[in-house]
Amino acid sequence: MRRAVLAAFAVMFAFGSSAFADNFPSRPITIVVPFSAGGPSDAMARILAERMKVALGETLLIENVTGAGGSIGVGRAVKSAPDGYTISFGHLGTHVANGAVYKLGYDLVADLEPVALLPSNPMIIVSKNAVPAKSLKELLAWLKSRPSPPTVGTAGAGSGSHIAGLYLENITGLKLQYVPYRGTGPAMNDLVAGQIDMMIDQTSNSISQVRAGTIRAYAVTDDKRVASASDVPTTDEAGLPGFHMTLWSGLWVPKGTPKDIVAKLNAATVEALNDPAVRKQLENLGLRMPPKDQLSPEALGAWQKAEIAKWWPMIKAADVKVD
Ligand code: MLT
Repeated sequence: MRRAVLAAFAVMFAFGSSAFADNFPSRPITIVVPFSAGGPSDAMARILAERMKVALGETLLIENVTGAGGSIGVGRAVKSAPDGYTISFGHLGTHVANGAVYKLGYDLVADLEPVALLPSNPMIIVSKNAVPAKSLKELLAWLKSRPSPPTVGTAGAGSGSHIAGLYLENITGLKLQYVPYRGTGPAMNDLVAGQIDMMIDQTSNSISQVRAGTIRAYAVTDDKRVASASDVPTTDEAGLPGFHMTLWSGLWVPKGTPKDIVAKLNAATVEALNDPAVRKQLENLGLRMPPKDQLSPEALGAWQKAEIAKWWPMIKAADVKVD
């Protein structure tokens, strides 16, 4: 059936793709966010969707399709018609790590067309306030002294927050007990409530709680501080030199989507990222804009492949067990 649909689309596009693209979009577009509403991916997608609708002249709807570290939501987008009306929002976790964790049933490179690289942010090591540590060194000592592993909230196996945990285990030898949620939005609620001990979260998700003093921050996983959280040291400064991880996001569409429609979606994304009001919103969350020369669809494609080569060996070596 899908082959017949793709064939029909191929014929239609062969004869009328520019006509098709000229009328694109003629109805609302759906952005599939593979994590819970209220989390960092959802927040960024909604800010961009609001501004992209100005460029495209059509509403962009957010659909949160969650589960399995975001792989279910991405699968939903992969299976949709290659007509530009379904966009897959994702990141280092969903469009890189998950390929080394799950038997996905789709190929992250072959079944998706890159549209645009989106902002990124370093991860941030945070804990509930009851943890008896005031610095990263004290936190690591406390973790080492514990009889049982700490409970660490994640957005599921393969998610950014999980990969960050694997990386911390990998370089410290510590053992962490992961508590999976459908997104770091709901995980954050439990951290604030003291139900879990820690998270290695996207800065953009933790920053408001850190500012409110409802959770404690120890370090950002980078060699430079985050402008909008400049009181939080880097891992280099705080005693874990080299523990660097930046979670970048991106937009993709199903393979077979006409190039000129991909170009229209890319142009609308770039226009949104260049809007000063949008930049202010995103930078206030601790997000960093992608470099100007990295905004083409091809640039995202090349970056995704490079990140797959970089992260898969560590993730595969961790031998993550998923149902
Ligand atoms: C989310 O939006 O919940 C995050 O992107 C999840 C994650 O990967 O850690």
